[in-house]
Amino acid sequence: MLITGAAGFIGGHVAEVFRRAGHEVTGFDLRPATDVIAGDVRDRRALDRPLRGVDLVVHQAAKVGLGVDVADLPDYASVNVHGTAVLLAAMARHGVGALVLASSMVVYGEGAYDCAEHGRVRPGPRAVQDLERGRFEPRCPRCGATVDSATIGEDAPPDPRNAYATTKLAQEHLTANWARETGGAAVALRYHNVYGPRMPRDTPYSGVAAIFRSAVERGTAPRVFEDGRQRRDFVHVRDVAEANLAAARAGEPGRLVAYNVASGVPHTVGELAAVLAAERGGPEPVVTGEYRLGDVRHIVASPERARAGLGFRASVGFAEGMREFSTAPLG
Ligand code: UD1
Repeated sequence: MLITGAAGFIGGHVAEVFRRAGHEVTGFDLRPATDVIAGDVRDRRALDRPLRGVDLVVHQAAKVGLGVDVADLPDYASVNVHGTAVLLAAMARHGVGALVLASSMVVYGEGAYDCAEHGRVRPGPRAVQDLERGRFEPRCPRCGATVDSATIGEDAPPDPRNAYATTKLAQEHLTANWARETGGAAVALRYHNVYGPRMPRDTPYSGVAAIFRSAVERGTAPRVFEDGRQRRDFVHVRDVAEANLAAARAGEPGRLVAYNVASGVPHTVGELAAVLAAERGGPEPVVTGEYRLGDVRHIVASPERARAGLGFRASVGFAEGMREFSTAPLG
């Protein structure tokens, strides 16, 4: 089997889990590393050697994060969309019939909410005036009332809100096209907020766990945006790697099936900051009230389909995982 992005944070853990399960793993990545063939997924010729004799591809290579500004758009589209298209065409040439795709919960956009009056709703982007006034909770798109965040399932219509999210959804669609055309079996794993050892240090493209972890290591206070009550599902990278292994056996010919990969136990960004600061005995987090236009408020996912279809259940709890992460080596 072939893992693209094998020298990356999640790809590296995926490679370890597959090797431990007895798979013969070939890695492919832009960055040179042990047991990794160096190359770019957009380069059709570079894929010929790594795809030879392979029966499964686990596609983790991608440009990640929220991005800095619209100047990033061409890069996201090129690496994530064009790169996946080139890979799928190469897989078809080599007769590779199975794919596990690293997708993301960001394809949902703002999560699902319940309005007392209108039931289940999907609010649009939050108004800048609301964010400026510190009104961070989305409102009912029909009556403007406050709504309660609800659990989102895989069949919810996607609503990508930034370049990264848009390209992850495009990857899912291209993969579904490939499955239908070739009879290949595809599984899309919609990762929630992955964290754990070897997570890259903070950059403008890092997730919040890496940013807070780097802050507490420097002895500075984590800076919590909005009011800190926004919810996410933090899932440990070893659990994510196990979900990939389970997905390798779960594909159905001619189809793409998507699964949330989540712990099923959401926490607030404020709690994340507090636990990491406390573990390092560092300064208390600062709640800044800042906001980013591409951010959504809450994403709370149902882990049920992954439980039923993949037999996947996250095994690392928040307290235990964060204790390890607070001092684990970063990438
Ligand atoms: C993150 C990833 C996304 C990935 C998804 C699922 C990034 C930038 N986002 O999305 O690529 O697909 O998880 O794994 O990598 N925040 C702060 N302080 C900070 C930075 C962020 O409070 O210094 C807040 C944000 O305002 C937001 C929350 O933390 O409310 C999460 O931010 P972030 O991890 O960047 O993005 P996600 O939308 O969760």
